[in-house]
Amino acid sequence: MTLAEKIGQMRQINASDGYPPDWLGDELRAGRVGSILNNVDVGMVNEMQRIAVEESRLGIPLLVGRDVIHGFKTVMPIPLGQAATWNPDLIRDGASVAAREAATTGVNWTFAPMIDISRDARWGRIAESLGEDAYLTSELGAAMVRGFQGDDLSESGTIAACAKHFAGYGAAESGRDYATTNIPENELRNVYLPPFQAAVDSGVSSFMTSFSDLDGVPATGNAFLLRQVLRDEWAFDGLVVSDWDSVRQLQIHGLTENDRESAFEAVTAGVDMEMHGDAYANHLESLIEDGRVDIATVDASVANILRIKFRLGLFENPFTDPDSLPPIGDPEALETAEQLALQSVVMLRNEGGALPLSAESMNSVAVIGPLADAPIEQLGTWIFDGDRELSITPMHAIHTLVGHDIDVRYLRAMETSRSHSTEAFDEAVEIASETDAVVLFLGEESILSGEAHSRADISLPGAQAELVRRVRATGKPVIAVILAGRPLTLTDIVDDVDAILFAWHPGTMGGSAIADILFGRQSPSGKLPATFPRMVGQIPIYYNQKNTGKPPSPDTVVHIDDIDAHAPQLSLGMTAFHLDAGYTPLFPFGFGLSYTRFEYRDIEIGSDEIRLGESLLVSAELANVGDVAADEIVQLYVRDLVGSVTRPVRELKGFRRVRLEPGESARIEFTLHTDDLAFVGRDMQRSAEPGEFHVWIGGSSEADLQANFRIVADD
Ligand code: BGC
Repeated sequence: MTLAEKIGQMRQINASDGYPPDWLGDELRAGRVGSILNNVDVGMVNEMQRIAVEESRLGIPLLVGRDVIHGFKTVMPIPLGQAATWNPDLIRDGASVAAREAATTGVNWTFAPMIDISRDARWGRIAESLGEDAYLTSELGAAMVRGFQGDDLSESGTIAACAKHFAGYGAAESGRDYATTNIPENELRNVYLPPFQAAVDSGVSSFMTSFSDLDGVPATGNAFLLRQVLRDEWAFDGLVVSDWDSVRQLQIHGLTENDRESAFEAVTAGVDMEMHGDAYANHLESLIEDGRVDIATVDASVANILRIKFRLGLFENPFTDPDSLPPIGDPEALETAEQLALQSVVMLRNEGGALPLSAESMNSVAVIGPLADAPIEQLGTWIFDGDRELSITPMHAIHTLVGHDIDVRYLRAMETSRSHSTEAFDEAVEIASETDAVVLFLGEESILSGEAHSRADISLPGAQAELVRRVRATGKPVIAVILAGRPLTLTDIVDDVDAILFAWHPGTMGGSAIADILFGRQSPSGKLPATFPRMVGQIPIYYNQKNTGKPPSPDTVVHIDDIDAHAPQLSLGMTAFHLDAGYTPLFPFGFGLSYTRFEYRDIEIGSDEIRLGESLLVSAELANVGDVAADEIVQLYVRDLVGSVTRPVRELKGFRRVRLEPGESARIEFTLHTDDLAFVGRDMQRSAEPGEFHVWIGGSSEADLQANFRIVADD
């Protein structure tokens, strides 16, 4: 390869402008392009591959990239919603549907999974994440990788996955997208990096760098991340792509003076391919000629890129025949989307058994709200290719399910979720008064979350809280179904509704799933993958916090309204709480209600002492003591009481989705190896330490069924 051909491989071009314009055709012929993104017209993609393969000197096929984040034409719930299923197999299936639909267009590389830990619901991209927990994100992210890539990347219908954004992007200050992150190395290694290491272990083909600045060195120029951790420690042999123009942005960050220096920093840090930017194309050659960059650096990058092209089988099969794959939106795709939506819905409240509604014992239902019948708004962020025509809206599904038996009255009431007009609220009240129950479809439209869509106030936007209060005043049962791209602060409305179903942006089949849950065809079974704060000022709030030297407890909390006039400074609880919010969230991580009642009993541990390198069996009995069959997500948490660095008050170490019939019970077993209890200590090495542990099994991060054990040192 000539130097120009090598540098060509390191260049990814935005090809969204339709048929390869002359200039792009010329670049392809000259071997100056290694990858394109954002063209999903199979005819055009095949033509670009043809030029690359037949008309360039070396005939190297193209990587064809696209953000296939949660489905392609058939849209699955947003990733945060998928995380609420706690179901790795189903998530794998969703990614595999997305891969084969995308592959019909010639796409062979997706920029997913996004596995940035996020403890801040203001951040718009929490929607694309798998939530706040490193273990859950690791398990589910790896499942997505397996779904996209299948067992063999060279098979048709599989596409290369990309672990992004490496690393720390989710810690953007104040949840403002692209803002600076400062993460101490110990926290980086214990919280933010494990999902990426799990992605490497699952065989992910590529990594994308983050836009963000990490401790003063933007990720796209960060050799500690890209060389020391990713290549040296984890032995990753795939390719690293920058984020969109993030090489040139090194200058805007203030790390470099110009594009040439940005190319130098990025390539030496270990960025193999530049996404949509021309710093590499314009400057790498002269950097090598001047001896600033070693040719071996470029050779290694090109090898990383070609390796993925070989693994994809592109040299044998560069072209796409869409008819060789199942049709878009086939029954299997829709069924997978529906199952994911169904299992993602989290019931947050159900006072007096308000849900499920029974079509047999009512005559009418009011369906009110801006998100009841809005095909695009249930799809969420990153739906470049999502087909709104496929969407089954809740309104449509409720009609289909019970429209023959009861009167279904619909009113949109607000033009968008952000509307401030209350003009239609009188009519909403009238309809509510005339029906037996009201289902309000509230939340955020698709556009309010996702990249560059952060919010400082994460309550229900517009006049929605007012709508809730007006409808509430009718005295009718009020059910809120909330569609949103993030946890919301629901403190405002939580006591004004009888039940809440939190449905995220549920995707194409969201309506059917919601209708089935509302009318009791299925029990809700999702559990929260992220903590719901009472108010925004509690953020960051997450379950696996540290204990502090002054941990709060119910008897130390004082509320601002209860402070005596002229109280002296030291009269309060002197623990870690807010005077106006206490210290607990509105809904904790792992929480979610069911139509049945589950009881946890009789926790057992195989031994109360194990040695380093040994495993421990932990089990508890789960009983369905309610009236309906349902799934429960059984969760295992541990606390390492003393460590060489302080340890979280709880950490998720296992989970399992279990289905039980009414009256049925089962013993649920987990195996904990001491490696599962390892953490990165003061020396930045990962190891388990001897000492005392608590372990809990239960239905949320507040589980209280506890046992204790010790790890003893080898003598
Ligand atoms: C996002 C990436 C995405 C890329 C390509 C960027 O703005 O940060 O996540 O993959 O665009 O669309």
